[in-house]
Order: sequence, then structure tokens, then C-alpha cells
Amino acid sequence: MMTPSDVKATLSFSDGSAAMDLPIYKGTIGPDVIDIRKLYAQTGKFTYDPGFLSTASCNSTITYIDGDKGELLYRGYPIEQLAENCDFLETCHLLLYGDLPNVAQKADFVSRVTNHTMVNEQMQFFLRGFRRDAHPMAVMTGLVGALSAFYHDSTDINNPQHREIAAIRLIAKMPTLVAMAYKYSAGQPYMYPKNKLSYTANFMHMMFATPCEDYEPNDVLVRALDRIFILHADHEQNASTSTVRLCGSSGTNPFAAIAAGVACLWGPAHGGANEACLNMLGEIQQMGGVEKIGEFIRQVKDKNSGVKLMGFGHRVYKNYDPRAKLMRETCHEVLGALGLENDPLFKLAMALEKIALEDEYFVARKLYPNVDFYSGIVQRAIGIPVSLFTAIFALARTVGWIAQLNEMIGDPEYKIGRPRQLFAGSARRDVTPLAAR
Ligand code: CMC
Repeated sequence: MMTPSDVKATLSFSDGSAAMDLPIYKGTIGPDVIDIRKLYAQTGKFTYDPGFLSTASCNSTITYIDGDKGELLYRGYPIEQLAENCDFLETCHLLLYGDLPNVAQKADFVSRVTNHTMVNEQMQFFLRGFRRDAHPMAVMTGLVGALSAFYHDSTDINNPQHREIAAIRLIAKMPTLVAMAYKYSAGQPYMYPKNKLSYTANFMHMMFATPCEDYEPNDVLVRALDRIFILHADHEQNASTSTVRLCGSSGTNPFAAIAAGVACLWGPAHGGANEACLNMLGEIQQMGGVEKIGEFIRQVKDKNSGVKLMGFGHRVYKNYDPRAKLMRETCHEVLGALGLENDPLFKLAMALEKIALEDEYFVARKLYPNVDFYSGIVQRAIGIPVSLFTAIFALARTVGWIAQLNEMIGDPEYKIGRPRQLFAGSARRDVTPLAAR
């Protein structure tokens, strides 16, 4: 809810042009915003803010982050309380509908999601068109986009029933699609969902069971993966969510908009960080392990090397990432349950964490381990291949994307997204005929 503030901002110009009053709005918490919507009409000028460092692109009621305090709230609830008291599907209900479900609402929601876990059988043939060694995120971008070719009764973004069924289908089918992408790359038969299992246990069944061997999901691992899903479910207007909003703002169908989000998430500065982090640990291990950390850190500090410490730093959290604290806890629990405390890669990660937390370069820049530093280690311990990590993130973030997309479509102020630019290229010039160039 945007409340007009009594305070106004005044924009004045040193060339004597007329000053302009700009309204200010207050949110429930967090910084106020200066409304510049009439700026161009009144002054002929745009604002300039590459990377959206100071620009609110929408108003939203879903997720709130205080980067300085290290606070993350879904619909007002602290992430720590959700991670400790709720499961992923309760969190999905919260993000989609605004509140945690009661017992009856939860049973109804779980049953609606569970009834949509299978995918159209023909999707198997579509999947077969991919090379077996394709990156799972390439496969996921294709599969999610292809849902719009299979589910025609949920593609009208302006129809609330279509939006609702698309949301349920996406949440229900993402685990099936991720598991299919994995089984395909491993050359194993697909496993159909088992609806008597919980959402997360069912995903583990589809990943790790085979037609000849049942898989008994271990409770500690199910809880750990469910927590990964909760912690990654939404993160306000990050790059992939903004991509989903921008893509959906043209009126395209929800599956196409979510496929755009999957594509954006793939990048190593965003969802690809957990994969990049594990690959980085593997490289340090190959260089010689813990003894080589100092050398690696020297490369990271050298601006010309282009080497970054993956899994460290965040655009918004400048003191600590509250998700990282929870994931660190889970990381120790999982490695303990699996007896992997002496795993060399885990030992290396802990040594790297210690050095980076004490090193002046990282301390001065407030670079702390982010959630992906630990979630990669947990996923590897569970047996999820490194190349699938970002697809797991996409599975979890789907609910956030769809909640944000539906919020945008229901917002009376929503318009097609159309950023402007500062043009710095050539001014008008004439074409010289080819022979004379
Ligand atoms: N390793 C080494 N130096 C870094 C790192 C890093 N991971 N991150 C930032 N810096 C330095 C950067 O070089 C700059 O130094 P200086 O002031 O001397 O030029 C300073 O810290 C500020 O960095 P920035 O690039 O202005 O920060 P940003 O807010 O634009 O970037 C980031 C945020 C997440 C893209 C970046 O920290 C990064 O690339 N981290 C590694 C990738 C990663 O782990 N991403 C996952 C984020 S969590 C998952 C999610 O929410 O998607």
C-alpha cells in the first residue's frame, strides 16, 4: 500500500529551468520512494540508474529485505521462523495468497498441487530432442517454455482462473521436470511422481529411485532440501523476478514469463553462483587444497585477474545474508548425519570461509558468505550433481516468480515495462554507397 507522504521532493536545475515538485510515497517499512512518473512530461529528462541501484520498479506486498539489518520477510514473517516452523508448500501458500494456511487450507492446497505433479506424457519426446550432455538450465528453459504448448487452458494471463491454475501447475510440475532433466542426462528411466510422499520427498524419489530400486528418503535430507526450497522461494525484485515481471508485462503467458526467469537465473552472478562456487572449490582442490587458499585469495584481490570468490557478496545484504546463517546450520546437520565432516571439499570450504571472514579485503567490502556458498555444499552431500544446482534454485523460486507476476497483473497501475536510455551513439548521418566506403 503506497501512502502519500506530507514531504515533497523538489528538483531544481542550475540552468534556471523551472523547479519541479515530486510526490513521495511511504511503504509499510523500508525507504520511501520519489514518484518521477511525470518527470519526462514536465522536464523532457529521464533519470539514469543502470542496474536499478536506486530505483523501485513496482510496489509489492510480498517480500521485504533489509540489507543492512540482514532481515528477510515473506509477507511479514521472518525467514528464520518460516524455516523453523513451516514446510515449503505452506510457504508457497503464504507467498501466493498472502497468509499461512490453516489445517484445512493446507490440506486443500497440498491436494491441488499433488494432483498436478505429472506432466503431459509427450513432454518426454520433447526432452529427447536435447543432447544428453546439455546443461540442465538449457533443458529447463526449454521445458518450462514448452509448458505453454501443452496446457492451453492456463495461458491467458488476464484470466484469474488461468493464472491460478498456471501457478499450481508450475509449482507442481517443476520437481518433475527437474528430475526428468536429471534422469535424461544420467541415461536412466524417468520416475513418475508418487503422490503419497511429501512435495520434497517426492522430488527426491523422482531423482534417486529407479524402477528396480526403491529409494527411502532420509528425513534429515528431506528437511534440508525443503529448507533450501523455503530459503530460495522469493527474494523481492532480484534480476530473475524483474525479468519475469518485465516479460509478463507484455501480456505473454505465465509459462513463457517463468521460462524467461529461468534463463536469467542461470547466470553466475545470480542463481548460477552455487554451481560456480562448487566448481571454484573443485579448482582450489585441484591446485592443492587448503594450502593453496592463500594463493587463490591473492588472485581474487587482483582486479585484473577477473577471479571472484563465488558464494560471497550480495547486492542487497551488506552485513550478512540471513539465509546463509540458516543454510550453514543445515549444512553442518546434513554433513553430520551423513558422516561427511571430514570430506576434503567441505574442509576446504570451511577453511575458505574462515580466511575470507578475517581478511581485510572482504571485511572492508562487507563480503560475507551468501546462501549459495552453503547450499551448494548441502546439495552435493545429498547427491545432487553440481550442474543441477541452479535448476533446484529455479524449482524453489518458481513460486516467488508466479506470485510476483500475478501481483503485477492484478495491480491497476501496471503498464508494459519500457525503460528509457541515454543515447551516446552516432547522431543522424547518411549512408555512403558501398563502392564509395
Ligand atoms: N569476490 C571478490 N570481490 C568481490 C566479490 C566477490 N565475490 N563481490 C564483490 N566484490 C568486490 C568488488 O570487486 C568491489 O570491489 P571494489 O570496491 O574494490 O571495486 C566491491 O566488492 C563491491 O562489489 P560490487 O560488484 O559493487 O557489488 P554488487 O552489489 O554489484 O555485486 C554480486 C553483488 C552478488 C554480483 C557480487 O558480490 C558477486 O559477483 N558475488 C559472487 C557471485 C555470487 O555469489 N552471487 C550469488 C548472490 S546470492 C544468490 C542470489 O540472490 O541470486
